[in-house]
Amino acid sequence: TDDGARADDGARATDPWHGRVVIDPCMRDVHGQNERLRAAGPLVPVELPGHVRAWAATRHDTLETVLAHPALSKELRYWADWAGGAVPADWPLNNIITAESMITKEGGEHRRLRRMVSRAFTPRHIEELRPRVGEVAAELLDGLAGDAPGPVDLRLRYAYPLPRNVICELVGMPRAWHAELNKLTDALIRITDDADYAASRMRTLRELFAEVIELRRREPADDLTSALIAVRDDEGGRLSEAELHDMVMTLFVAGHETTINLITNAVRALLAHPGELAPLRDGTVPWSAAVEETLRWDSPVAYFPMRYVTRDAEIDGVRLRAGDAVVACYAAAGRDPGHYGERATRFQVCDPPAAHLSFGHGEHFCLGAALARLEAEVALEALFEAFPDLAPDTSRGDPEPLGTPLSNSIRSLPVLLP
Ligand code: HEM
Repeated sequence: TDDGARADDGARATDPWHGRVVIDPCMRDVHGQNERLRAAGPLVPVELPGHVRAWAATRHDTLETVLAHPALSKELRYWADWAGGAVPADWPLNNIITAESMITKEGGEHRRLRRMVSRAFTPRHIEELRPRVGEVAAELLDGLAGDAPGPVDLRLRYAYPLPRNVICELVGMPRAWHAELNKLTDALIRITDDADYAASRMRTLRELFAEVIELRRREPADDLTSALIAVRDDEGGRLSEAELHDMVMTLFVAGHETTINLITNAVRALLAHPGELAPLRDGTVPWSAAVEETLRWDSPVAYFPMRYVTRDAEIDGVRLRAGDAVVACYAAAGRDPGHYGERATRFQVCDPPAAHLSFGHGEHFCLGAALARLEAEVALEALFEAFPDLAPDTSRGDPEPLGTPLSNSIRSLPVLLP
């Protein structure tokens, strides 16, 4: 009835969560869900898995505003639901939002932590890694050649070990420990289906990195952990022991699954759009264009927590209250027709590529962007050079989504090696 509808409108006006959209915990159809979210508004009240409330920034221009807005902070102390105990103690994302890392700090504290490692991640320094990344890719492709012709899971055999090997070398984890790591890192993609399992794996991962830190204290080498230990031990005060551990974990976790997803999503997109592959293979368009288009069209990060409202604010006509949380919907922004027009949902490798927000924006812009870009570029070029006739293995049916609100990719990428 009209009265019922009016009462409902009234409830919405006073309590935005009354009309919240419940995010599918299995993320079965991330792009369909995103289309509905974008249509619902620029900032949409949502319920994240775990009954956690947040505003979802769903459109490109709004997300850009949100990521650099002065009334929004990444410091957990501003989040009312956290302070009030409404966030479950075992919420899978607690690992990220409670870490003593640059991801959760602002202002001087943020700059202090970020500066300690930022030099290692400048495009110039990262470019020096290109030959080494090429070797890692070539080793993996040699391994794959042993299975040709035939079916393989390219996520497991290529997209996954490549960034892992690179980031492990950067943080100074010995090669012999990688097998141990393999058993643990699937926890990172299982954060919604089994919180207990993921939490225990996360603890073990933390212990493993504590051992890396101990090892590099005893035997310093030319790696980031050794450099951070030197800052911690020689100059005291500048980096606490907890921050040292969280920094190494942050670099590993942030630099690992995201890049696996990028490589997986790029290969999948190119196999599904062979017309886009041709200009890359003949060198008319650089591989970096395919990387950028994948970042926009199928962002490796779906929804990233979290920013908190420090004082009442209005963004794009929506009133946010101090204490609210805002989640950034990167995968939704990348296909926003309001920003990208007709090409929003089309995968089209262009030179120059369309700009996107998939590495964030502002002070927290992804520290590892140059590294991720390099890894994905090298991975794609080497893969399609080694296997020009690579084909999707359609006998396996539709690929299953990862099923986490954080990551946007598929659990396996079945292909046929020629
Ligand atoms: C921050 C995405 C790879 C390290 C971010 C942010 C995004 C992002 C969206 C901003 C978060 C926010 O503002 O709330 C990605 C994607 C990647 C990738 C899509 C791969 C395709 C990497 C790699 C590393 C890394 C390889 C490092 C080894 C970081 C760190 C931050 C960050 C440390 C926090 C920066 C800060 O708070 O100042 N990333 N990332 N990322 N990323 Fe990445």
